[in-house]
Amino acid sequence: MKLSRKIFLLSAVACGMALAQVPAFARHAHDDGGDPADVRARQVLASMSLEDKMSLLFSVDGGGFNGSVAPPGGLGSAAYLRAPKGSGLPDLQISDAGLGVRNPAHIRKNGAAVSLPSGLSTASTWDMDMARQAGAMIGREAWQSGFNIILGGGADLTRDPRGGRNFEYAGEDPLQTGRMVGSTIAGVQSQHVISTLKHYAMNDLETSRMTMSADIAPAAMRESDLLGFEIALETGHPGSVMCSYNRVNDLYACENPYLLTRTLKQDWHYPGFVMSDWGGTHSSARAALAGLDQESAGDHTDARPYFRTLLAADVKAGRVPQARIDDMAQRIVRSLFAIGLVDHPPQQKPLDVVTDTLVAQKDEEEGAVLLRNQGNILPLSPTARIAVIGGHADAGVISGGGSSQVEPIGGEAVKGPGKKEWPGDPVYFPSSPLKAMKAEAPQARITYDSGTSIASAVRAARAADVVVVYATQFTFEGMDAPSMHLDDNADALITAVAAANPRTVVVMETGDPVLMPWNNSVAGVLEAWFPGSGGGPAIARLLFGKVAPSGHLTMTFPQAESQLAHPDIAGVTADNVFEMQFHTDQELVYDEGSDVGYRWFDRNHFKPLYPFGYGLTYTTFSSDGLKVGEHHGQVTATFNVHNTGTRPGVDVPQVYVSLPDGGARRLAGWQRISLAPGESRQVSVRIDPRLLAHFDDRHDRWSVPSGTFRVWLAACATDDSQQATMHLHGRTMAP
Ligand code: BGC
Repeated sequence: MKLSRKIFLLSAVACGMALAQVPAFARHAHDDGGDPADVRARQVLASMSLEDKMSLLFSVDGGGFNGSVAPPGGLGSAAYLRAPKGSGLPDLQISDAGLGVRNPAHIRKNGAAVSLPSGLSTASTWDMDMARQAGAMIGREAWQSGFNIILGGGADLTRDPRGGRNFEYAGEDPLQTGRMVGSTIAGVQSQHVISTLKHYAMNDLETSRMTMSADIAPAAMRESDLLGFEIALETGHPGSVMCSYNRVNDLYACENPYLLTRTLKQDWHYPGFVMSDWGGTHSSARAALAGLDQESAGDHTDARPYFRTLLAADVKAGRVPQARIDDMAQRIVRSLFAIGLVDHPPQQKPLDVVTDTLVAQKDEEEGAVLLRNQGNILPLSPTARIAVIGGHADAGVISGGGSSQVEPIGGEAVKGPGKKEWPGDPVYFPSSPLKAMKAEAPQARITYDSGTSIASAVRAARAADVVVVYATQFTFEGMDAPSMHLDDNADALITAVAAANPRTVVVMETGDPVLMPWNNSVAGVLEAWFPGSGGGPAIARLLFGKVAPSGHLTMTFPQAESQLAHPDIAGVTADNVFEMQFHTDQELVYDEGSDVGYRWFDRNHFKPLYPFGYGLTYTTFSSDGLKVGEHHGQVTATFNVHNTGTRPGVDVPQVYVSLPDGGARRLAGWQRISLAPGESRQVSVRIDPRLLAHFDDRHDRWSVPSGTFRVWLAACATDDSQQATMHLHGRTMAP
């Protein structure tokens, strides 16, 4: 240790300063013109030994994993990293995940937290400010729980509507995903907690998830999944990126130079660090040279603790230059300064559960999507006789399983059979829609039937003016949905109930889009996703019109699985779908390229059940006057939106484009606007030039072709009513 550091530490102790606090020399950037966080990181690392630097590259299991206990110093979470002694850097307390602060295997005594609704719900708000507030809620709770790194948000595109983790992600469009997930990340980091953009990249399925090779042409990947990550990075500036389990074009994502170095660090100039997913590191030198900076929980989940032991030998033998180790450490420490972990260390205190639950509730109120409303069955009359059926609506709302699962405040609302294997029973948050409906409409006569006996549910339906059936689909990390159907007997139950009383509204709590064979026989459908800690009141307020639905789909609802780009997930049957996550040597050729979701439907002229971008509300909107112009290379669409109904409401007009060489239409922008009845507004939407371009992988650049582009102003991806054309001169842009 250098003399000046020794003197600092002695005087720090003398002044009563905790050693974890930052040394004064690291507080302010010297005026050398560099990025302040970079400069401060360099200053700290300058006096650190190689051994200390290397200790930053390896976190240990934080406890709760298959019965493991928290390491000394660790709070009990996904991972822990002890900062080098005397460095002034904080220990890293690393916790899952994107919907709230997790408490794996109840390892912490007071580990319950508030959960947002699913990522699909937040994305369905199309409201970047809401996403930011949602992220800030997680960041705040993490900080108040002692954590300084959160392992969310997830930005993989939902290429398959059966994906087990789709509920953690935002949807099938790169622009929408990038902006919404990026906003959540910015929210988390506003609380001085690092947010981790994951799972980079193409981790779009759970089947064979540890080994699957997602095979796709690099240019197509840059125009789809990677564009989502790129925009999320620009929007949120996450301190860390998590590379995924799967392989991409044959190479593991965590040792894939195309992903980690050429694209992320060179083309996108990413200054932060890459951590591996838990069990995602497979080598030392190869991974380090490809761009992995930190091995996560490598003592527990990887075959060997690569970066703890083998990497030192690699450096000694010259297989990994020391400059690379310096870069890895620099990236990690830079993020600690950039996001404020050093200057604003977490302070454990009780959570503000009431405020935070209201954030989750608002997110759900904005994110639930009204799919059907025949004869304006919704909003419900507050004096009606209402039969509520199924979905454990008397007790709570279902959530998705796996590492994003948050322990409910107030305990689990439904006692399951006690399944021991991962991920255990579905967890219900104690936010009962039934109780909230009763509170919202005290004059209504509301009954409840569990829906387990169809005959009994039909009797209840007959005796009511209107029926609300709650139907669930449990999805979780580790397994893709065996089918696109609702769980249990829900399809049969809804069909029978709707036959008994056509004034039936279905509230779906699902992880994914589902098939709806009963769609035409019910009057109303509200897609509530996994509704989160404030789910009950949010659903009740939507049903009774206290708040108007404003969510719009970010995933296509197909009519049948045969319409999908991959009608079957290779080798998966209803019986083996869980085991399939460990299946090896799978390859999935994404020959649809960048035509994910609605783009695939557009290219093939398939009519979906409900299209991407779709969502109803309690008023009506019209739009007109679409004009598209280019000024100094910036293309902008302008148009007018009118609220033509009798209630206030929120509209989400969308702009789509197609390139001169044809191809599927692409979402190019949107605006979320709130209008009073009779109000009109002129709206301008700026179009990101990458949506007007192809990626030219050979020359590593974007290329806008010359020619005539089509532009749509649309209420959803299949809306053809308003179109314009524009002519652009070709140009190229840096990646
Ligand atoms: C998941 C990650 C998660 C990590 C730590 C992995 O299995 O894929 O999303 O953050 O575990 O729990």
